[in-house]
Amino acid sequence: MIDYVDVIYGLAWGDEGKGKIANVLAPKYDLVCRWNGGPNAGHTVYQNGKRYKTHLVPSGIFSGKRCIIGPGCVINPNKFFEEIRYLRGEGFDTSLVKISPAAHIITEAHIDYDKRHLGHLGTTGQGIAPCYSDKMIRGGKRAVDVFESQWLWDGELHGKVLCEGAQSVWLDIDHGDYPYVTSSTTMPYGACSLGFSPRKINRLIGVAKIYDTKSGTDPLFPTSLWDDQELDEVIQAGGEFGTTTGRKRLVNWLNLDKLIQSVKLSGCTELIINKCDVLEKVGIFKVYHKGSLHNFKDLSEMKVFIIGAIGDAQMEGSDIHDITFSSHQEAL
Ligand code: IMP
Ligand code: MG
Repeated sequence: MIDYVDVIYGLAWGDEGKGKIANVLAPKYDLVCRWNGGPNAGHTVYQNGKRYKTHLVPSGIFSGKRCIIGPGCVINPNKFFEEIRYLRGEGFDTSLVKISPAAHIITEAHIDYDKRHLGHLGTTGQGIAPCYSDKMIRGGKRAVDVFESQWLWDGELHGKVLCEGAQSVWLDIDHGDYPYVTSSTTMPYGACSLGFSPRKINRLIGVAKIYDTKSGTDPLFPTSLWDDQELDEVIQAGGEFGTTTGRKRLVNWLNLDKLIQSVKLSGCTELIINKCDVLEKVGIFKVYHKGSLHNFKDLSEMKVFIIGAIGDAQMEGSDIHDITFSSHQEAL
């Protein structure tokens, strides 16, 4: 029986540091699950002072938890086994990883199509959109067709469950800036595709960042911003280069209106604003709100402003009862 489900997800365009937060929280749970995406995701976590990078395996692997890759995920078997070998080599118990028989398989043809035809959307080139497309047209291969039974999940969920999102609200297929989105449901309700009722959800932990970034193309991040020297300092100080692609990310000051919108849309109950140490390092503190760019003398002044604006939004109906400002280095 499931006790409850908590969901961690991104409130912006990905790369908010969800993986690090999930890794910190994972020890309190029995299961850690992924519900969407595949090798397009890149999670960087620190465990006992060492840095690990994963793409598909949930962060629960670092604390010895059973890890589920749900039916809404897409899997490239070669990449999956590469990640399994890497994690096993680092001493983690990979027999804890189970895949839903209904998860879809990325083929070479999917990757080829993505690379040839979808580059203008700034995709990660991992075959994501073609694979989901074959799923929808009901012509795709599934995990049950290619994986040995030892890897397959029996569909059981029990105890305290943590669901870990990949990508984020503004990359959601329905809610993002289409077509500059990914092909899955990144909204936290997508977690229910693992096989539980929405009423089981307890905490909705939304992770944001104190400035905005986007990997790949998006007209919301005009290329004119590339010439902005202050923003370039943020990129360098924040290490804003893709985990999966190595590409330099597009960057802008935090759009607080969009953050408030994603908080409301997703029903966020706890907000974590990450990477505050990056702005402190750069020494510039700016936020867009209601059409103007506000400038602050330090981080505390900026925090007060953000808390105030979210407080006002609360009056209009959002569910947040906790805001944490977190640092990239410490992740909480
Ligand atoms: P796709 O998911 O490879 O089709 O890429 C679609 C868009 O989502 C591109 O703009 C990617 O850069 C972006 N994207 C996909 N996965 C991630 C992620 O894990 N973090 C950040 N951006 C992502
Ligand atoms: Mg990432």
